[in-house]
Amino acid sequence: MTPLDTTTTGLSVTPLGYALGAEVNGVDINQPPTPALVAAIRSVWHQHHVIVFRGQRFEAGGMLRFAQAFGALDDHAATPFYRLDEHPELLQVTNRQIGGKPSETRNTGRNWHSDYSYTDHPAAASMLFCVERPPVGGDTMFANMVNAYETLSAPLRTFLDGLDVVYDVGLTAGINERDPAKTAEVRRLNPPIAHPAVRVHPDSGRRALYVSERSSHFHGMTAAESRPLIDFLCQHATQPENVYRHVWQPGDLVCWDNRTSMHVALADFDQTQPRHMLRATLLGAQSGFVVG
Ligand code: SIN
Repeated sequence: MTPLDTTTTGLSVTPLGYALGAEVNGVDINQPPTPALVAAIRSVWHQHHVIVFRGQRFEAGGMLRFAQAFGALDDHAATPFYRLDEHPELLQVTNRQIGGKPSETRNTGRNWHSDYSYTDHPAAASMLFCVERPPVGGDTMFANMVNAYETLSAPLRTFLDGLDVVYDVGLTAGINERDPAKTAEVRRLNPPIAHPAVRVHPDSGRRALYVSERSSHFHGMTAAESRPLIDFLCQHATQPENVYRHVWQPGDLVCWDNRTSMHVALADFDQTQPRHMLRATLLGAQSGFVVG
């Protein structure tokens, strides 16, 4: 990995967690990033998996340009009801009322997952901007899935290397509290799909566990055989020492690598208080096969 040259980029980097997470200072996301800056940020991102830019101003155009500097963006067609009409590359994660009704995405992300794992193009990375947060809580936790893989025993790593794991959008926490017609459409768009249980990062080559609370079973194994292993792996990955917990401030842009981390949005707050976030999702490579 190329070491970060802070003299030319003006970046400063402060680790936020033992396992993952770092704050990056010296960036205004609304200024067009130079190739050197993008390369420097990428290097920090690969090292820390989750990076945080604080004190930013939300401008849809600026956020999209910043995100696009790191790769093509998903238009969120897998969950078409929750994106901004004027910018489909921005997904609303909000409990604000929309059209006079509580937003369907007020409970997004309530179990451990990697974004869009239930699609045939699992997200490469995500960038979430905090516009508004409740007075307390509404935190997000992240787990390092490279560490999770590397701290398994060699025989279990070898076993997982040969497995595909099935993702089911129906295991998204809170999905059944959403509009039944929209949920049916999201299920139709995203049938259960199998992906390698170990994901290899295309840039760093690092291997990461790719199993989450949205995994139903290992392909070719029964649910009864799979469940104890999935539960063990989720518990193993989310041990406190392998987790960074982000306490949001308005103006935070938090960027996570979905290939090397998973996350959960906590419901630890008063739902009458606003929490309003916008997410850009970096398109991942086509992967997986639909299972019957
Ligand atoms: C998500 O899972 O994309 C949302 C995370 C959050 O709202 O903290």
